[in-house]
Amino acid sequence: MPHPQEPLSGIHPLLVGRFSPYRFDPSAVVDDHGVGLLLEAARWAPSAGNSQPWGFFVGRPGEPEHDRVLPHLAPSSARWATDASLLVVTLTRRHVDDTQLLYSEFADYDLGQAIAHMTVQAQAMGLASHQFRAFDLEGLTKELNPNPGWAIVSMVAVGKAADGPSEGRDRRSVAHLLSAPWSLGE
Ligand SMILES: Cc1cc2nc3c(=O)[nH]c(=O)nc-3n(C[C@H](O)[C@H](O)[C@H](O)COP(=O)(O)O)c2cc1C
Repeated sequence: MPHPQEPLSGIHPLLVGRFSPYRFDPSAVVDDHGVGLLLEAARWAPSAGNSQPWGFFVGRPGEPEHDRVLPHLAPSSARWATDASLLVVTLTRRHVDDTQLLYSEFADYDLGQAIAHMTVQAQAMGLASHQFRAFDLEGLTKELNPNPGWAIVSMVAVGKAADGPSEGRDRRSVAHLLSAPWSLGE
């Protein structure tokens, strides 16, 4: 019997190997081609009505874009995200321009899929990613000033992992995820 916290054999090694590191190798570099591949992977994600409601702001250490993002990290994420080779700010197009009209009912959902693509692509390139929300959303929004209708959702730190998977990555069982929506569950 496999341990309930071990992935069942048969799922793809890229999925088994993925984890969110809390340490990155500060000497690692993601070159232009690498950045392009990560964005390309996101670009090919599915989206409702092919609405592609995602957008990104990227910066690597030493670049002005990185300098604009760094001051808005929360202390908890600055501890490790600063050493990542690439920071990606993720945005979704939630509304049509400055109206309250939804651009897509699935805008945030589709952004999540694009990021999932990006993280698997990163894994395939020998890189690790750590998504996070620990940053000053208001401050970063003021700094980047996205177009009306666009909202910053999250950030992703990408680089060479300098640690292994952390404690507390337990997953609920498949039985739970099949029953939780309909039973009282835990
Ligand atoms: C939308 C989102 C926001 C997250 N925010 C944070 C965060 O602010 N700080 C953090 O350390 N990790 C953050 N994480 C990472 C999760 O804690 C992590 O994915 C989860 O614990 C499972 O671990 P694993 O990715 O190693 O499997 C976030 C992940 C997602 C998808």
